[in-house]
Amino acid sequence: MKFIDFRSDTVTHPTEEMRAAMAAAIVGDDVYEDDPTTNELEALAAKMLGKEKALFISSGTMGNQLAIMGQTKKGDEIIVSADSHIVTHEAGATALLSGANVCSLYFENTVPDAKMIEKSIRTKNVHHPDTALICLENALANGHVVPLERMAEIREVSKKHNIPVHLDGARLFNAAVALGVDVKEITQYCDTVTCCLSKGLCAPVGAILAGSAEFIERSRRNRKILGGGMRQTGVLAAAGIIALEKMTKRLHEDHANAKYLAQKLSEVPYIHCDPDAVEINMVFCTFDQPEEKIAAMAGKLLEKNIKIGGYEGGPVRFVTNNDITREHIDLLVAEIQNCF
Ligand SMILES: Cc1ncc(COP(=O)(O)O)c(C=O)c1O
Repeated sequence: MKFIDFRSDTVTHPTEEMRAAMAAAIVGDDVYEDDPTTNELEALAAKMLGKEKALFISSGTMGNQLAIMGQTKKGDEIIVSADSHIVTHEAGATALLSGANVCSLYFENTVPDAKMIEKSIRTKNVHHPDTALICLENALANGHVVPLERMAEIREVSKKHNIPVHLDGARLFNAAVALGVDVKEITQYCDTVTCCLSKGLCAPVGAILAGSAEFIERSRRNRKILGGGMRQTGVLAAAGIIALEKMTKRLHEDHANAKYLAQKLSEVPYIHCDPDAVEINMVFCTFDQPEEKIAAMAGKLLEKNIKIGGYEGGPVRFVTNNDITREHIDLLVAEIQNCF
Protein backbone atom coordinates (compact mmCIF):
# COMPACT_ATOMS: atom_id res chain seq x y z
CA MET A 1 0.00 0.00 0.00
CA LYS A 2 1.43 3.38 -0.97
CA PHE A 3 0.71 6.21 1.47
CA ILE A 4 1.05 9.95 1.06
CA ASP A 5 2.92 10.82 4.20
CA PHE A 6 2.89 14.32 5.70
CA ARG A 7 3.98 13.25 9.20
CA SER A 8 7.64 14.20 8.88
CA ASP A 9 10.61 14.33 6.54
CA THR A 10 12.00 11.32 8.42
CA VAL A 11 9.61 9.19 6.35
CA THR A 12 11.36 9.88 3.02
CA HIS A 13 12.45 6.88 1.01
CA PRO A 14 15.95 6.58 -0.50
CA THR A 15 15.94 7.60 -4.16
CA GLU A 16 16.57 5.12 -7.00
CA GLU A 17 20.02 6.67 -7.44
CA MET A 18 20.76 6.04 -3.77
CA ARG A 19 19.64 2.44 -4.00
CA ALA A 20 21.91 1.86 -7.02
CA ALA A 21 24.86 3.54 -5.28
CA MET A 22 24.26 1.45 -2.15
CA ALA A 23 24.27 -1.76 -4.19
CA ALA A 24 27.53 -0.81 -5.90
CA ALA A 25 29.32 0.66 -2.85
CA ILE A 26 32.92 -0.39 -2.21
CA VAL A 27 33.14 -1.33 1.46
CA GLY A 28 35.70 -2.11 4.15
CA ASP A 29 35.58 -2.28 7.93
CA ASP A 30 34.78 1.17 9.32
CA VAL A 31 35.90 0.28 12.84
CA TYR A 32 39.39 -0.18 11.29
CA GLU A 33 38.68 3.10 9.44
CA ASP A 34 39.23 1.38 6.09
CA ASP A 35 35.78 1.63 4.53
CA PRO A 36 36.59 3.81 1.49
CA THR A 37 33.02 5.01 0.92
CA THR A 38 32.57 6.03 4.55
CA ASN A 39 35.94 7.80 4.50
CA GLU A 40 34.84 9.65 1.36
CA LEU A 41 31.56 10.69 2.99
CA GLU A 42 33.34 11.91 6.13
CA ALA A 43 35.85 13.96 4.13
CA LEU A 44 33.05 15.47 2.03
CA ALA A 45 30.99 16.29 5.13
CA ALA A 46 33.92 17.91 6.94
CA LYS A 47 34.58 20.09 3.89
CA MET A 48 30.95 21.10 3.45
CA LEU A 49 30.49 21.87 7.14
CA GLY A 50 33.78 23.76 7.40
CA LYS A 51 35.20 21.57 10.17
CA GLU A 52 38.48 19.64 10.46
CA LYS A 53 36.93 16.19 10.66
CA ALA A 54 33.56 14.45 10.49
CA LEU A 55 32.21 11.13 11.71
CA PHE A 56 29.41 9.02 10.24
CA ILE A 57 26.98 8.09 13.00
CA SER A 58 23.69 6.27 13.21
CA SER A 59 21.37 9.16 14.08
CA GLY A 60 20.97 12.79 14.98
CA THR A 61 20.35 11.78 18.59
CA MET A 62 23.67 9.93 18.68
CA GLY A 63 25.38 13.05 17.31
CA ASN A 64 23.94 15.33 19.94
CA GLN A 65 24.77 12.91 22.71
CA LEU A 66 28.33 12.37 21.45
CA ALA A 67 28.76 16.15 21.39
CA ILE A 68 27.66 16.35 25.03
CA MET A 69 29.70 13.29 26.09
CA GLY A 70 32.78 14.66 24.37
CA GLN A 71 32.57 18.17 25.81
CA THR A 72 31.34 17.73 29.37
CA LYS A 73 32.28 15.73 32.43
CA LYS A 74 29.89 14.33 35.02
CA GLY A 75 28.18 17.14 36.95
CA ASP A 76 28.94 19.82 34.35
CA GLU A 77 26.03 21.84 33.03
CA ILE A 78 24.84 22.42 29.49
CA ILE A 79 22.68 25.41 28.48
CA VAL A 80 19.96 24.46 26.04
CA SER A 81 16.47 25.49 24.97
CA ALA A 82 13.69 23.82 26.98
CA ASP A 83 11.97 23.11 23.65
CA SER A 84 15.02 21.53 22.04
CA HIS A 85 15.24 17.98 20.77
CA ILE A 86 18.00 17.32 23.31
CA VAL A 87 15.69 18.16 26.22
CA THR A 88 12.36 16.91 24.92
CA HIS A 89 13.05 14.00 22.57
CA GLU A 90 16.22 12.20 23.60
CA ALA A 91 14.77 10.13 26.43
CA GLY A 92 16.89 11.77 29.14
CA ALA A 93 20.09 10.62 27.42
CA THR A 94 22.07 13.66 28.62
CA ALA A 95 21.57 12.60 32.24
CA LEU A 96 21.94 8.92 31.50
CA LEU A 97 25.03 8.96 29.29
CA SER A 98 26.96 12.07 30.34
CA GLY A 99 25.66 12.72 33.86
CA ALA A 100 25.40 16.37 32.85
CA ASN A 101 23.12 18.89 34.53
CA VAL A 102 20.71 20.62 32.13
CA CYS A 103 19.97 24.33 32.35
CA SER A 104 16.96 24.54 30.05
CA LEU A 105 15.79 28.00 29.04
CA TYR A 106 12.40 29.06 27.66
CA PHE A 107 13.13 31.41 24.77
CA GLU A 108 10.51 33.52 23.02
CA ASN A 109 9.34 31.50 19.99
CA THR A 110 12.16 29.12 20.96
CA VAL A 111 14.70 31.41 19.23
CA PRO A 112 17.78 31.42 21.50
CA ASP A 113 18.67 34.69 23.20
CA ALA A 114 22.32 35.59 23.82
CA LYS A 115 21.58 37.69 26.93
CA MET A 116 19.59 34.91 28.56
CA ILE A 117 22.34 32.44 27.76
CA GLU A 118 25.02 34.71 29.19
CA LYS A 119 23.01 35.25 32.37
CA SER A 120 22.76 31.49 32.81
CA ILE A 121 26.48 30.86 32.68
CA ARG A 122 27.51 29.85 36.18
CA THR A 123 30.04 31.80 38.19
CA LYS A 124 32.85 29.91 39.86
CA ASN A 125 31.33 28.95 43.18
CA VAL A 126 31.50 25.86 45.34
CA HIS A 127 27.71 25.50 44.98
CA HIS A 128 27.52 25.74 41.20
CA PRO A 129 27.96 23.24 38.43
CA ASP A 130 30.47 24.30 35.75
CA THR A 131 28.84 25.50 32.54
CA ALA A 132 30.58 23.40 29.91
CA LEU A 133 28.53 23.60 26.70
CA ILE A 134 25.92 25.72 24.93
CA CYS A 135 23.63 23.69 22.67
CA LEU A 136 21.71 25.35 19.83
CA GLU A 137 19.36 24.10 17.14
CA ASN A 138 19.01 25.39 13.57
CA ALA A 139 16.51 24.91 11.98
CA LEU A 140 14.28 24.86 15.07
CA ALA A 141 11.80 22.05 15.59
CA ASN A 142 8.95 24.58 15.25
CA GLY A 143 9.92 25.14 11.62
CA HIS A 144 11.64 28.47 12.20
CA VAL A 145 15.20 29.42 11.50
CA VAL A 146 17.64 31.14 13.84
CA PRO A 147 18.97 34.30 12.11
CA LEU A 148 22.72 34.47 11.58
CA GLU A 149 22.98 37.63 13.70
CA ARG A 150 21.57 35.69 16.64
CA MET A 151 24.06 32.86 16.10
CA ALA A 152 26.87 35.45 15.95
CA GLU A 153 25.76 37.09 19.22
CA ILE A 154 25.76 33.72 20.98
CA ARG A 155 29.18 32.95 19.52
CA GLU A 156 30.48 36.15 21.09
CA VAL A 157 29.16 35.06 24.49
CA SER A 158 30.69 31.62 24.02
CA LYS A 159 34.09 33.09 23.17
CA LYS A 160 33.97 35.60 26.04
CA HIS A 161 33.34 32.80 28.54
CA ASN A 162 35.38 30.14 26.74
CA ILE A 163 32.43 27.75 26.46
CA PRO A 164 32.03 25.69 23.28
CA VAL A 165 28.85 25.68 21.19
CA HIS A 166 27.24 22.54 19.77
CA LEU A 167 24.72 22.95 16.98
CA ASP A 168 21.97 20.38 16.49
CA GLY A 169 21.60 20.82 12.74
CA ALA A 170 19.25 17.92 12.10
CA ARG A 171 17.79 20.24 9.42
CA LEU A 172 20.89 22.40 8.96
CA PHE A 173 20.62 22.39 5.16
CA ASN A 174 16.98 23.50 5.37
CA ALA A 175 18.13 26.38 7.56
CA ALA A 176 20.84 27.32 5.05
CA VAL A 177 18.31 27.31 2.19
CA ALA A 178 15.87 29.43 4.22
CA LEU A 179 18.62 31.91 5.12
CA GLY A 180 19.96 31.88 1.56
CA VAL A 181 23.51 31.11 2.70
CA ASP A 182 26.08 28.33 2.47
CA VAL A 183 25.95 26.03 5.53
CA LYS A 184 29.43 27.19 6.54
CA GLU A 185 27.94 30.63 7.22
CA ILE A 186 25.95 28.94 9.99
CA THR A 187 28.53 26.43 11.22
CA GLN A 188 31.19 29.14 11.66
CA TYR A 189 29.35 29.96 14.90
CA CYS A 190 29.71 26.52 16.48
CA ASP A 191 32.52 24.20 17.53
CA THR A 192 30.66 20.97 16.85
CA VAL A 193 27.67 20.23 14.64
CA THR A 194 25.33 17.37 13.88
CA CYS A 195 23.37 17.11 10.66
CA CYS A 196 21.02 14.38 9.54
CA LEU A 197 21.47 12.60 6.21
CA SER A 198 18.07 11.02 6.55
CA LYS A 199 15.08 13.36 6.98
CA GLY A 200 14.77 15.75 4.03
CA LEU A 201 17.99 14.50 2.44
CA CYS A 202 16.44 11.04 1.93
CA ALA A 203 19.28 8.76 3.03
CA PRO A 204 17.78 5.71 4.74
CA VAL A 205 20.07 5.90 7.79
CA GLY A 206 22.65 8.14 9.31
CA ALA A 207 23.90 11.49 10.42
CA ILE A 208 27.18 13.39 10.58
CA LEU A 209 29.01 14.78 13.60
CA ALA A 210 31.73 17.30 12.77
CA GLY A 211 34.28 19.30 14.73
CA SER A 212 38.00 19.50 15.45
CA ALA A 213 40.20 16.48 14.67
CA GLU A 214 40.81 15.95 18.37
CA PHE A 215 37.06 16.06 19.19
CA ILE A 216 36.24 13.60 16.42
CA GLU A 217 38.94 11.19 17.62
CA ARG A 218 37.35 11.27 21.09
CA SER A 219 33.89 10.86 19.57
CA ARG A 220 35.01 7.84 17.56
CA ARG A 221 35.88 6.15 20.84
CA ASN A 222 32.65 7.34 22.49
CA ARG A 223 30.69 6.07 19.49
CA LYS A 224 32.29 2.65 20.12
CA ILE A 225 31.27 2.84 23.79
CA LEU A 226 27.66 3.44 22.69
CA GLY A 227 27.81 0.40 20.41
CA GLY A 228 27.81 2.60 17.34
CA GLY A 229 31.02 1.27 15.78
CA MET A 230 29.64 -0.30 12.61
CA ARG A 231 31.48 -2.34 10.03
CA GLN A 232 30.66 -2.23 6.26
CA THR A 233 29.02 1.16 6.51
CA GLY A 234 29.93 2.06 2.94
CA VAL A 235 26.55 0.68 1.92
CA LEU A 236 24.92 3.46 3.96
CA ALA A 237 27.57 6.09 3.30
CA ALA A 238 26.98 5.75 -0.46
CA ALA A 239 23.47 7.10 0.06
CA GLY A 240 24.88 9.76 2.41
CA ILE A 241 27.19 11.09 -0.31
CA ILE A 242 24.22 11.57 -2.65
CA ALA A 243 22.29 13.15 0.23
CA LEU A 244 24.99 15.79 0.67
CA GLU A 245 25.95 16.34 -2.94
CA LYS A 246 22.53 16.26 -4.59
CA MET A 247 19.62 16.27 -2.18
CA THR A 248 20.79 19.43 -0.41
CA LYS A 249 20.30 21.22 -3.74
CA ARG A 250 16.59 20.40 -3.99
CA LEU A 251 15.37 21.35 -0.50
CA HIS A 252 14.01 24.64 -1.84
CA GLU A 253 11.34 22.54 -3.62
CA ASP A 254 10.11 21.20 -0.26
CA HIS A 255 10.05 24.74 1.12
CA ALA A 256 8.08 26.01 -1.89
CA ASN A 257 5.65 23.11 -1.53
CA ALA A 258 5.21 23.90 2.16
CA LYS A 259 4.34 27.50 1.29
CA TYR A 260 1.90 26.25 -1.35
CA LEU A 261 0.26 23.96 1.23
CA ALA A 262 0.04 26.82 3.75
CA GLN A 263 -1.57 29.05 1.12
CA LYS A 264 -4.15 26.36 0.26
CA LEU A 265 -4.92 25.74 3.93
CA SER A 266 -5.30 29.47 4.59
CA GLU A 267 -8.05 29.59 1.95
CA VAL A 268 -10.21 27.18 3.99
CA PRO A 269 -12.53 29.39 6.13
CA TYR A 270 -12.10 27.47 9.41
CA ILE A 271 -8.31 26.94 9.15
CA HIS A 272 -5.79 29.47 10.46
CA CYS A 273 -2.52 29.21 8.62
CA ASP A 274 -0.02 31.93 7.74
CA PRO A 275 1.95 31.20 4.55
CA ASP A 276 4.38 34.00 5.44
CA ALA A 277 5.32 32.13 8.63
CA VAL A 278 6.58 29.13 6.63
CA GLU A 279 10.38 29.13 6.54
CA ILE A 280 11.35 25.52 5.83
CA ASN A 281 9.37 22.37 5.01
CA MET A 282 6.96 22.55 7.97
CA VAL A 283 3.45 23.96 8.04
CA PHE A 284 1.53 24.56 11.26
CA CYS A 285 -2.15 25.46 11.43
CA THR A 286 -5.09 25.56 13.81
CA PHE A 287 -8.74 24.68 13.19
CA ASP A 288 -11.90 26.48 14.31
CA GLN A 289 -13.58 23.11 14.77
CA PRO A 290 -14.63 20.93 17.71
CA GLU A 291 -11.70 19.14 19.36
CA GLU A 292 -13.13 15.68 18.68
CA LYS A 293 -13.39 16.39 14.96
CA ILE A 294 -9.78 17.61 14.81
CA ALA A 295 -8.68 14.54 16.76
CA ALA A 296 -10.57 12.26 14.36
CA MET A 297 -8.98 13.82 11.27
CA ALA A 298 -5.83 11.64 11.21
CA GLY A 299 -7.91 8.46 11.27
CA LYS A 300 -10.21 9.67 8.50
CA LEU A 301 -7.31 10.73 6.30
CA LEU A 302 -5.65 7.35 6.83
CA GLU A 303 -8.69 5.73 5.22
CA LYS A 304 -7.72 7.77 2.13
CA ASN A 305 -4.09 6.59 2.38
CA ILE A 306 -2.92 9.95 3.72
CA LYS A 307 -0.83 9.97 6.90
CA ILE A 308 -0.56 12.97 9.24
CA GLY A 309 0.69 13.21 12.82
CA GLY A 310 -1.71 12.50 15.69
CA TYR A 311 -3.46 15.51 17.24
CA GLU A 312 -1.82 16.61 20.49
CA GLY A 313 -4.05 19.54 21.34
CA GLY A 314 -1.91 22.28 19.76
CA PRO A 315 -1.37 23.36 16.15
CA VAL A 316 -1.46 20.57 13.56
CA ARG A 317 1.83 20.02 11.69
CA PHE A 318 2.32 18.95 8.08
CA VAL A 319 5.78 18.31 6.63
CA THR A 320 6.67 18.29 2.95
CA ASN A 321 9.48 16.16 1.56
CA ASN A 322 10.93 14.64 -1.61
CA ASP A 323 8.06 12.15 -1.87
CA ILE A 324 5.34 14.86 -1.73
CA THR A 325 4.04 16.52 -4.91
CA ARG A 326 1.64 19.43 -5.51
CA GLU A 327 -1.03 16.86 -6.47
CA HIS A 328 -0.61 15.21 -3.07
CA ILE A 329 -1.03 18.60 -1.42
CA ASP A 330 -4.22 19.37 -3.38
CA LEU A 331 -5.57 15.96 -2.40
CA LEU A 332 -4.69 16.51 1.28
CA VAL A 333 -6.46 19.88 1.40
CA ALA A 334 -9.56 18.43 -0.31
CA GLU A 335 -9.67 15.42 2.02
CA ILE A 336 -9.18 17.60 5.11
CA GLN A 337 -12.35 19.46 4.13
CA ASN A 338 -14.21 16.13 3.90
CA CYS A 339 -13.34 15.56 7.58
CA PHE A 340 -15.48 18.49 8.81
C1 LIG B 1 15.86 19.01 15.80
C2 LIG B 1 16.17 17.54 15.81
N1 LIG B 1 17.32 17.12 16.36
C3 LIG B 1 17.66 15.83 16.41
C4 LIG B 1 16.83 14.87 15.86
C5 LIG B 1 17.23 13.43 16.01
O1 LIG B 1 17.44 12.74 14.85
P1 LIG B 1 17.31 11.16 14.83
O2 LIG B 1 15.87 10.85 14.68
O3 LIG B 1 18.14 10.80 13.64
O4 LIG B 1 17.89 10.65 16.10
C6 LIG B 1 15.62 15.25 15.27
C7 LIG B 1 14.71 14.23 14.71
O5 LIG B 1 13.63 14.48 14.24
C8 LIG B 1 15.28 16.62 15.24
O6 LIG B 1 14.12 17.04 14.72
